[in-house]
Amino acid sequence: MSLNPFAAALAEAKEQGAQVLDLTASNPAQVGLRPDAEAVLRALANPIAMEYDPLPRGLLSARQAVARYYAEQHGISDLDPQHIVLTTSTSEAYSFVMRLLCDPGDEIAVPRPGYPLFEFLADILDLKLVSYPLFYDHGWQLDLYSLEKLITERTRAIVVVHPNNPTGSFVQPGERDDLNALCRQHSMALIADEVFLDYPHDAVARASFVSNPAALTFTLSGLSKISALPQMKLAWVVTSGPPSLVEPALSRLEVIADTYLSMNAPVQLASPAMLQQRTSVQARLMDRVRQNLGELDAQLVAKPAVVRLQVDGGWYAILRVPVLQTDEQLAIQLLRQARVAVHPGHFYGFEDGYLVVSLIVPQQDFRNGVARILRHL
Ligand SMILES: Cc1ncc(COP(=O)(O)O)c(C=O)c1O
Repeated sequence: MSLNPFAAALAEAKEQGAQVLDLTASNPAQVGLRPDAEAVLRALANPIAMEYDPLPRGLLSARQAVARYYAEQHGISDLDPQHIVLTTSTSEAYSFVMRLLCDPGDEIAVPRPGYPLFEFLADILDLKLVSYPLFYDHGWQLDLYSLEKLITERTRAIVVVHPNNPTGSFVQPGERDDLNALCRQHSMALIADEVFLDYPHDAVARASFVSNPAALTFTLSGLSKISALPQMKLAWVVTSGPPSLVEPALSRLEVIADTYLSMNAPVQLASPAMLQQRTSVQARLMDRVRQNLGELDAQLVAKPAVVRLQVDGGWYAILRVPVLQTDEQLAIQLLRQARVAVHPGHFYGFEDGYLVVSLIVPQQDFRNGVARILRHL
């Protein structure tokens, strides 16, 4: 696989042993934000893991732990574990759901700016990806009119990322109603990616889609962000909506899951303990996000040409910078001349003039990295 020019420049800098401050780092295991290793490893050493008695939807005890997480964290107390199907990652969950909904050539609508993985998933599954715009006007808004115009008779689902990566914007209640109506009208499903739902930057409660009754809805999440444990490979799909649509969808999802039986026993058995770890690790993550955001804003005061866009949740911030070159050229220049790595906005579907930084980078690196960027600009 050939690297894009920015990734190639980053690999080259690393090969040369350059001291690059990496403001793209968003793997919690690599930025010193791990949960309690002893508790996790102890839970993995469960003797019952030597049995093999798989269930297509995943072990009941693990699905019950997921249902408990929604009750405790999001106040949804009636989630039926039968509506939960476990997968090894959110990415795998996407592929199961897209396979369930689509034939080759069918279309899926995804937000732009948005998460770059969709393009790869669509390629692998022979689907056509259409992007619907989010626009920025005192915060991010969904452009419903443009979304409606994109829909054809082959559009099978609308993906929402709640909050979105990298814009950090949640789906607003009014937008949710509009999306439900659109899905019902065109017999489409909603796919709601909630991996960052537990990371709002304010005290406003945002409802999960797991109990969305109004349209066929697949809600995706997992341990990689909830408990900062991407290496454990445990995620899920929750199916909700009108019962006449949910039951057949669940049966077909079960056939797909049964075909692979991709879940391993130790991780499923350890999932209650791993979910419990979220409380302390989420508090530490949010503390870091707030401190880095505060640092960024403090440094930006002296640099009015660079603007940070509003962010309501998640682990990223977006900088609008003067457009003097493509964002890729700027990111490569920052790497070579200022020794700092940031993502060019076009990775996420932005036009030129945007950079994306991770907010979970260790504070000192973040502070120095931002100072280097602003000095360079
Ligand atoms: C919006 C979004 N969805 C899904 C994922 C992937 O999650 P997983 O590690 O469970 O595949 C990511 C990873 O960064 C993400 O940003």
